[in-house]
Amino acid sequence: MYSGAINLIHMATMQDTPLDHNDPTALLAWHIAMGADEAVWDECVDKFSAPAAALQPTTGPAQPQNTRVAQPPQQQPTGPRRVEAKPVQAISGAGQAAAESIAAGCNSLAELEAALKDFDGGLLKRSAKNTVFADGTRGAPLMIVGEAPGADEDRMGKPFVGVSGQLLDRMLAAAGMSREKNVYISNVVPWRPLGNRTPDHAIIAMCLPFIRRHIELAEPKVVLMLGGVSAKALLGTEDGITRLRGRWKELGIGSQKIAALPAYHPAYLLRQPHLKGLAWRDLLAVKRKLQSL
Ligand code: URA
Repeated sequence: MYSGAINLIHMATMQDTPLDHNDPTALLAWHIAMGADEAVWDECVDKFSAPAAALQPTTGPAQPQNTRVAQPPQQQPTGPRRVEAKPVQAISGAGQAAAESIAAGCNSLAELEAALKDFDGGLLKRSAKNTVFADGTRGAPLMIVGEAPGADEDRMGKPFVGVSGQLLDRMLAAAGMSREKNVYISNVVPWRPLGNRTPDHAIIAMCLPFIRRHIELAEPKVVLMLGGVSAKALLGTEDGITRLRGRWKELGIGSQKIAALPAYHPAYLLRQPHLKGLAWRDLLAVKRKLQSL
C-alpha cells in the first residue's frame, strides 16, 4: 500500500528531470519507481467532481427585474466532494468444495499448476498479478512451504524472491542446500493478499486442498513449514509458532506420512534477529532428518 504520493511528486519535481504531470505514463512509472504497488487511498474521494461553483452557468437568460425575492448567498462547497463507498460485494470465488475436487483430479505438478491458474480464486486472485506456484527443484527431498506471496513474489511469479527469500537462500546455502540443487519451495496461498494481509480462514480453507495435493505430488521426504500461517494450516492447529517451532510433526497426506517441522518465517527473523539462532538450529535438524531417511 502506498500513500503520500502528492508530497513525493513535489520532491520528484525538485530533481534533475522534472516530472511531466500531464504524461500519465510518466506519472505511473514514477509511482512504481517510488514503491507504489496498489491504487488505493485512505478514503473514497470523487476527484472528478468539480467544485459546485465551477459548474454554475456564467451566462444565461436575464432574470426579470424585481420579480424574485432576494435569496441569501448559498455556501458553495469547495474542493473535492467526499463520496460514500458502496458496500463491497464479497467475491469469494469457487470455494473450498470446488478446490478439493479440482485438486484431487490433478495427477501431476504440471496439471496442478494449470488447474490453479484456471481456478476462480475470487477477489484474492483477481487482485494478484500472478499465480505463484513454486520454485526450486521438482522431486527435491525438502519442500519448504511459506505463507503467501508478497509484492516481489507477485510481480515475479515465484515464491520467496524478496528480502525474506534472500535471507532464506542465505540460510539454505549456509546449510549446504539451495533451490537450484535440492530444495522445492511453495506457499499455502498462491496469490498475494492485498496489502500483504494475513490470509483469513476462508482463504486458507480454499487454498488448503491445493497445497496438500501439491505436497502429495511433489513427494518430499521432509516439509519445512515457515511461519505460523503455514504450520497452523498444514497441521490443522491453532497453536502459535512459538509453541510449534522446532518440534517434529507428521503430515498425513494421501497415503504418505511426511516428517514436517514448523520454523520461524524469515520475515519474522528480519524483525527479530535474535531468533536466528533458533531458526538455524531448526534448519540443521532438517538436514539431520534428511540424512537419516
Ligand atoms: N513470504 C512467504 O510466506 N512467501 C513468499 O513467497 C514470500 C514471502
